[in-house]
Amino acid sequence: MNSIIVATDRNGCIAKGAEIPWKCKEDLRHFMLTTRGKPVIMGRATFETLKQPLPGRTNIVITRQSDYAAPDGVIVCHDLESALETAEGCPGADEEIMITGGQQIYDLALQKRLVDRIYLSIIPVEVEGGDRFFHFEKYGPWGLKTEEDRETFMLYIFERAEIDPGEELESDSISDGN
Ligand SMILES: NC(=O)c1ccc[n+]([C@@H]2O[C@H](COP(=O)([O-])OP(=O)(O)OC[C@H]3O[C@@H](n4cnc5c(N)ncnc54)[C@H](OP(=O)(O)O)[C@@H]3O)[C@@H](O)[C@H]2O)c1
Repeated sequence: MNSIIVATDRNGCIAKGAEIPWKCKEDLRHFMLTTRGKPVIMGRATFETLKQPLPGRTNIVITRQSDYAAPDGVIVCHDLESALETAEGCPGADEEIMITGGQQIYDLALQKRLVDRIYLSIIPVEVEGGDRFFHFEKYGPWGLKTEEDRETFMLYIFERAEIDPGEELESDSISDGN
């Protein structure tokens, strides 16, 4: 199973430049617990915002740069499909493979319909001038499985729902920009 884990403000903003413009310790804890022991796949920009690779997880970074020098132990891939294929052979993959952003990688995974589940945290803030977003609805349909008030944020878990053939055609034309 391939899952996205993401935190947004009330308007779907995930970042402003290289920054996540809020502090929410409880959401960070939720991120660490949910991804623990599983392979994590992220874009090169997100990887470079980390102080170090996420410990206790196989870190897989996606870049178009053929000579990208990643720290020891970090796996570099050049497209999402090979990242997922690589992740499948890593510890924890039988439970779940986690796609951890940022916007470009979330969009790619959603467009290609490679996502089965979304862990969406909504932080109760409104970021001014945000420039990275997560809008998954148009790549649906998604079924809401759980909704939890974690006091400092809301946690929603969605899973992909079956698409009827008519809807599939409609959302294909949206993702093609038609
Ligand atoms: N709020 C959250 O939950 C959350 C989660 C994660 C990240 N973030 C934030 O999101 C921001 C980064 O997002 P982003 O959208 O700018 O970048 P990103 O998705 O993290 O990474 C983009 C990079 O991925 C590589 N890439 C993208 N598409 C590719 C493809 N088709 N094939 C091969 N490589 C590809 C490219 O690397 P090269 O340029 O090296 O080729 C590209 O520059 C940061 O601010 C981060 O903190 C927020």
